[in-house]
Amino acid sequence: DSSNCLSSSPLMGNRSIQLMERIACGRFGTVYTAKYNKTTVAVKIFSTQDKQLWLTEQGIFMLAHMQHENILHFIGAEVRGNELETQFWLITEYHSHGSLCNYLKGNTITWAQLCKICHSMAKGLMHLHEELPPTKGEGYKPAVAHRDFKSTNVLLKEDLTACIADFNLALIFLRGKPCGDVHGQVGTRRYWAPEVLEGAINFSRDAFLRIDMYACGLVLWEAASRCTQQMGPIPEYRLPFEEEVGQLPCLEDMQEAVVHRRQRPTIPDSWRDSTHKGMAALCETMEECWDHDAEARLSASCVMERIAAYTKL
Ligand code: ADE
Repeated sequence: DSSNCLSSSPLMGNRSIQLMERIACGRFGTVYTAKYNKTTVAVKIFSTQDKQLWLTEQGIFMLAHMQHENILHFIGAEVRGNELETQFWLITEYHSHGSLCNYLKGNTITWAQLCKICHSMAKGLMHLHEELPPTKGEGYKPAVAHRDFKSTNVLLKEDLTACIADFNLALIFLRGKPCGDVHGQVGTRRYWAPEVLEGAINFSRDAFLRIDMYACGLVLWEAASRCTQQMGPIPEYRLPFEEEVGQLPCLEDMQEAVVHRRQRPTIPDSWRDSTHKGMAALCETMEECWDHDAEARLSASCVMERIAAYTKL
């Protein structure tokens, strides 16, 4: 066995991991299911040239306070070599429902499920964004911006609560320290906030957290679009802006729609006319997340509190 265990990561021991099925193939890394300790886990494999992304993601998972019900649970990291190349592995919990995007493609959701998904997703994002002081058991947790927030990076657990995944572009903000040499235009163009599309962001912590909140608004819209709490037939799942820019927009298409025309995903009247008052309130929440003015956007904690309030409506 040519695998070796990293001393800095949680011990994987010498137990073998057997890859089973490829479940996702992203721009960065391919995800497999695997058997480890008789349980099914997910293994994300990065190639040699993407080692930095593996290091970044591992660094995020190993921050204090990152064990949270709405953050994907990290199991370990490994470097493996085969004859052809060195591979960098991240082992996490596996969730058979897959991503929120995937789930919405195949299923409609009830109002109660929509609330549960959105509330738990906002809770995970709030936890990521939050700075926490050291406690008896754990160290200081800096604020973290995700920088690639989207429905394929939100996984659904068995009970349909959400957990946030994919931290390979995430940024850590240590108190009093600049965030270093970063590039603003990373992540997925479809989910870029207007200031990212314009290349006009300031590199402060709050600027990055507000960019995540814009994307969160789009994900709330995606989830709501498949909720049975709307008048009339439920349309097929569509990506945000699919109607406006299609499947493979270039940068100019996105700039034209989001910056110049200030378009946002359409909220049909049938959502606000729902017999449930909560649906209209959720529509307002998503609009306040994707506000053109970054400073006007809601924070993750505010989104979470609002959703908790309409769940009681
Ligand atoms: N897709 C990417 N990561 C996953 C995971 N941990 N569980 C299920 N599907 C995934």
